[in-house]
Amino acid sequence: MSLSVLILAAGKGSRMNSQHPKVLHEVGNVPMIYYPIKLAKSIKAQRISVVVGKNSSQLKKSIKSFQAEVEILEQSEQLGTAHAVLCAKNHFAHQSGDLLILYGDCPLISDESIKKLIELRKNGADLAVLGFHSVNPRSYGRLILDGTGDLEKIVEATDATTEEQAIKFCNSGIMIADTNLFFSFLEKVSNKNASGEFYLTDLVTLVRQENMVVQTASCPENEAHGVNDRSDLAKVEECFQNLKRAEVMRKGTTLIDPSTVYFSYDTELGADTVVEPNIIFGPAVRVRKNVRIRSFSYLEGCLVKPDVIIGPFARIRPETTLDEGVRVGNFVEIKKSKLNKNVKANHLAYIGDASIGAQTNVGAGTIFCNYDGTSKNSIEVGENSFIGSNVSLIAPLKIGDKVIIGAGSTITDNVSKETLALGRSRQINKPKK
Ligand code: UD1
Ligand code: MG
Repeated sequence: MSLSVLILAAGKGSRMNSQHPKVLHEVGNVPMIYYPIKLAKSIKAQRISVVVGKNSSQLKKSIKSFQAEVEILEQSEQLGTAHAVLCAKNHFAHQSGDLLILYGDCPLISDESIKKLIELRKNGADLAVLGFHSVNPRSYGRLILDGTGDLEKIVEATDATTEEQAIKFCNSGIMIADTNLFFSFLEKVSNKNASGEFYLTDLVTLVRQENMVVQTASCPENEAHGVNDRSDLAKVEECFQNLKRAEVMRKGTTLIDPSTVYFSYDTELGADTVVEPNIIFGPAVRVRKNVRIRSFSYLEGCLVKPDVIIGPFARIRPETTLDEGVRVGNFVEIKKSKLNKNVKANHLAYIGDASIGAQTNVGAGTIFCNYDGTSKNSIEVGENSFIGSNVSLIAPLKIGDKVIIGAGSTITDNVSKETLALGRSRQINKPKK
């Protein structure tokens, strides 16, 4: 059966107290809206549509950057979740098959949980809702089951009686039904409730009145947290980090102290790589197998090949590649550079806009002076060369293979292969008095 996905992301997000749309706040270093789009792609939805508010050009741009074929719909006034779905009525007018509703502010739902909902539909449920058991359900809608265990109704926290508030089975917001079912029933939803909004959750009562079957599947609470305010955002980030830590360890990476290592949504780590405590992985880091990342290092936008050792206290910045066997030691910063096999930069160096040939040694305190105040220039260093300590290499520059650069040199001219280059003033020793 064909499946379309509609993601609700038009809410004002007023509880965030932010100038930016709520779903652009980041979890794992990517806007939250990325996650439901990725989920829709991974369950092979035929159509993926997102409902956004008026004047959300920033949000539209971000959505397009993830996935060109996502369709964007506008809800001009935020009158509630039922109203948001109704905005897609014409859009889905001729669409057969099922429609899955996802919330843009609920980023951590797994494919497995959605598959459970799809299974309920296959087994005859007319409407299936994803719930979760929460220790502290606060503002979540409560799922009220009937005597047979089917879903009778959803009560929003603000409208719930004290008895209903005590129920711990909560609404994740996610539901699936035949596409036409949503649009034929949602017209009947009213806004006579505590918030004066049109609630999507009222669909359950309306569908039950027609003697149709409404069932629930449940997912773990750490997947279902929704983001309504900044403390929810921190909670969801914590859940994301825990899920990612568990995932990388399952795949064969050692985390010596998992709770001190922070990942991005797209971090990749190879088997038998060891990550010491207190490491941050910014976006776009790919680390292959048998790498050791020592404490207090910060990596982003880089490819780290097997058998590399990084850190402690190293900073690897975007567009950097470290080939097999490279050593990057303490207080070394590398940006937009390629270090070929077995290059060593073990102490106190800045390497930017450079390519360094295999086996070359970069001495302590070496600075690749890539910026002349206006533009960035590059430096090429050959293989098997030795750059002594405290050298300044002034870009643009080409340094050949098997070169030795004397410690303390300032190098402004190219150095051809197998040459000793010295760029420092001679020492003068004078007798005292
Ligand atoms: C909603 C559910 C609640 C559930 C919780 C799970 C309703 C009425 N309540 O509450 O039962 O436990 O999610 O996180 O659905 N949105 C629009 N247009 C609107 C209003 C909202 O697109 O007019 C979008 C928001 O951007 C958000 C999602 O719908 O992504 C949910 O809206 P939100 O206001 O966050 O609802 P909750 O109060 O969290
Ligand atoms: Mg919400």
